[in-house]
Amino acid sequence: MLSWLQQPVNFREVLSDEAFEPAHAEYYSGPPGKPLKLLLQARTDFLSIWRATDYAEKVSQIRILGRQVVLVNSPELIRQVVVKRHENFERKSPQMRRALEYLLGDGLFISDGETWKQRRGLVADIVHMNRVPSFGPIMEKTAGELVERWAGIPEGQTLNVLHEMAGLTAEIISRSVFGNQLGEDSANAVTDSFTSYQSLIDSINLGYFIGFDEGLPVLRTPSLRRSVKRLHRIIDKVVEDHLAGRGDHNSMVELLIRRQQRSPELKLDVVALRNEAATIFMAGHETTAATLTWAWYLLSRAPWVERAVHAELDRVCGGRAPTIDDVPRLEWCKAVIEESLRLYPPVPILARQNKQADTIGDIDVAPGSLILIVPWLLHRTPSLFTAPHEFRPERFMGGKRPTPYSYIPFASGPRVCPGLHFGLTEAVLCLAILAQRFRVRVAETHKVEPMCRLTLRPRGGLPVTLERRAA
Ligand code: HEM
Repeated sequence: MLSWLQQPVNFREVLSDEAFEPAHAEYYSGPPGKPLKLLLQARTDFLSIWRATDYAEKVSQIRILGRQVVLVNSPELIRQVVVKRHENFERKSPQMRRALEYLLGDGLFISDGETWKQRRGLVADIVHMNRVPSFGPIMEKTAGELVERWAGIPEGQTLNVLHEMAGLTAEIISRSVFGNQLGEDSANAVTDSFTSYQSLIDSINLGYFIGFDEGLPVLRTPSLRRSVKRLHRIIDKVVEDHLAGRGDHNSMVELLIRRQQRSPELKLDVVALRNEAATIFMAGHETTAATLTWAWYLLSRAPWVERAVHAELDRVCGGRAPTIDDVPRLEWCKAVIEESLRLYPPVPILARQNKQADTIGDIDVAPGSLILIVPWLLHRTPSLFTAPHEFRPERFMGGKRPTPYSYIPFASGPRVCPGLHFGLTEAVLCLAILAQRFRVRVAETHKVEPMCRLTLRPRGGLPVTLERRAA
């Protein structure tokens, strides 16, 4: 509906012998001063609405149906929003809250105020960097199982590597959160329900733009209800099993329950425990799956980088499979993941709603406005990154780091992703384990189109073939 109003999106990809500019939408060139048209365009594809002039260090604003929308794209002002004035900007956008409330209830991802403060420490402790090594064996074993499965696939057969990576990271987070007892059917049901939930919700809450500060509730269609009910039933059963002492002792649900038993003032009942478990599950797998998928695409088109990755794996690991202890020495693998996160941040938009009136740069912001920080734009701003559209993992090597607050794939400030170390370690390790044994090939003729829903993925997935490397 209304698609006739939208500008068709053209994608650009440029490959030469030693340089690669991976796929991105051409700059928007629709007529200026048509915010409603822009909103409709954003509804289909949020990444196709940016003009060349938006890729600059600045703060700007537009009005959409009377609603003030402020775009913050300068490191210093981003620091102001996410750190210095965090309390005023900690609230997620009505769009995000409404889209996820049915699924996650008051889970950390969308809570704010006192609930967020109380729960943040709890969840952050559970996925803290000190705990990451204890999940190493799960990551190694699960990636190892995928190596076995891939080894049985005939060369030349096409796979959707987005689907493969989603299965891998869902299995890792499922075993980490719920323990090993979930069982294959329930694990698949959990993953399917999350996927179908995402596809059923709208990407823009029009209610907010027509005057409802809190947005409007998402329409709970029968299929949406079915996926949520199925998911809640499975997670509740895991929580109840753990409460009855029948759970896996190393799982994150077990850690949540132990924390509740030590601090009963947190008042975590079964529903609260479910909400936090579902939050960690949701936040902790799609993002990593998208990161790995983009990394395969980039490596496939830049064989000079792929060669460096393979040389590093041969040097560091010899013939044995990489383990979590190797991660600190896998500098190329880490740089490929960091560069993938720059070019294709899995969460390409951080949207907030300010509580009180405020000022950002020279813009006065009315209460309840929409504040957008767009890592997609920031990470491709030429004054912050040389040749910003090009794939150059070297920019993260030899101790080089981007300007503070110019590189924020995990957000920043008090609401920074608590799973940062888990996610980075998992992505580097899975890339290393799979790249040691396979080259993942995207057909030269395949047109890759980045698409933004809740996360940034290639439209229609990423069809690939596998080539074995000598073990
Ligand atoms: C490459 C992987 C990942 C990326 C790029 C990523 C990115 C992000 C970003 C950008 C946010 C903030 C969103 C916003 O402010 O609107 C976030 C929040 C969050 N992430 Fe991650 N994440 C990743 C992996 C993980 C993992 C593995 C876990 C858990 C094990 C996790 C758990 C969470 C949670 C619970 C929040 C909500 C935090 C809060 O609101 O206080 N993430 N993530």
